[in-house]
Amino acid sequence: MKPQMVKFGKAELMECIDVFNVSKETQAKILELLEQEDPEPNAGVFFRYYNERSKVVEFEKQFAEKMGVPYVLAVNSGTSALIAAMVAAGVGPGDEVIVPAYTFFASVSAIVVAKALPIIVDIDETLTISPEAIEKAITPRTKAIVCVHMIGLPCNMEKITAIAKKHNLAVIEDTAQACGGKFHGKYLGTWGDFGCISLDAYKVIACGEGGVVMCKDEFSYTRAQSWHDTAACWRPKRYARERQEGELFCGENYRMSELEGAVALAQLRKLDWINDTCRKNWKRLRESINLPKGVKWVETNDNEGVCGYSLPLMFEDQEYAVRVQTAKFGIGGNALNETQGVRNWHMAWYWEHILEQKAATKDGCPFTCPHNKDIKLNYTVDSWPETKRIIGHMGTIGVGPFLTEEQIKTKIEKINNGFKTV
Ligand SMILES: Cc1ncc(COP(=O)(O)O)c(C=O)c1O
Repeated sequence: MKPQMVKFGKAELMECIDVFNVSKETQAKILELLEQEDPEPNAGVFFRYYNERSKVVEFEKQFAEKMGVPYVLAVNSGTSALIAAMVAAGVGPGDEVIVPAYTFFASVSAIVVAKALPIIVDIDETLTISPEAIEKAITPRTKAIVCVHMIGLPCNMEKITAIAKKHNLAVIEDTAQACGGKFHGKYLGTWGDFGCISLDAYKVIACGEGGVVMCKDEFSYTRAQSWHDTAACWRPKRYARERQEGELFCGENYRMSELEGAVALAQLRKLDWINDTCRKNWKRLRESINLPKGVKWVETNDNEGVCGYSLPLMFEDQEYAVRVQTAKFGIGGNALNETQGVRNWHMAWYWEHILEQKAATKDGCPFTCPHNKDIKLNYTVDSWPETKRIIGHMGTIGVGPFLTEEQIKTKIEKINNGFKTV
């Protein structure tokens, strides 16, 4: 191929097309069509602020409209969304942030990166953070609550926001696994002060790597935006002086690229279909699978609002759960893994970064930070007995939006028959 006299052109575009596993024949046809056009001299404006047709900006706009929130910031991962939200909320040294013992470790890591310390509490049988455990963990140093809508299941946002209001705490919803899920008809991530979404490859909608921060007020959005862009501070005016204390500070670079923005924009159009279809399949399986004695469906905080890609159930005793998971007839979960000591970053008893207070630098900051000296973590692998019990008794059925009618019927039959054999 002849090199083109533009920085970004057909060669780059063809590599992107290749990511989608388009056949070589189709690629050749696309290239042939592209060759008929002169190179676009202004192609590939990958910097969102200088691009009038920015996909990232359009994605933010459409995401905000969809969720009904005033401010949306696209970032490069769910983890960076959480960190930007922590910074925007003013979380820092000397602060405690409450977080559940069952979540992907990123929810906790974000707190430590913000130089605060995580106060890790139990979940309840809804598989989400226990509001009672939150209340018990509040101290004068508590700054925020991170509630996590695990496996697409909503937290009880009415109770959590009421507790936060009573104690003047920020609520950061880790909605990484639950984009488009709802609690009492309102989107997850829009109940708290911040809603953080992950768009990594395995999430409800995805763009490779990406994330979203939803904010309620302009100042928080400005702080999240500054942190996400090396403090380039694109406030209404880039080079204006600080309008309000706390607006200007040094930051990182979490910018979403235009390529991710383009994929995210297309994915956003599929969000309703994905969630509606999963939910329909979730309900269908729940109604058609006959649970034997000793097993029950998990009572979620809102069955109408689940994302529906994972259908959880609870066994009365762990031995039964282990037998079922060993038989492999369509019910997964961690009961079996737990008996075999299989490590998993979703449960607090495996987080030795926290148990052993491991830090990136030798001085042990933030665990040893003088501001944090009054916060005693002292966690051990046995610090969360209730969460351990629940995880050890739980099972899950994978659902997904792409199941055909035939596959659903086979799944139901396999599970109903499987239960008769164990
Ligand atoms: C609950 C939870 N929070 C945060 C994250 C981090 O998202 P990302 O992988 O986009 O950084 C994940 C990703 O798996 C997650 O499951």
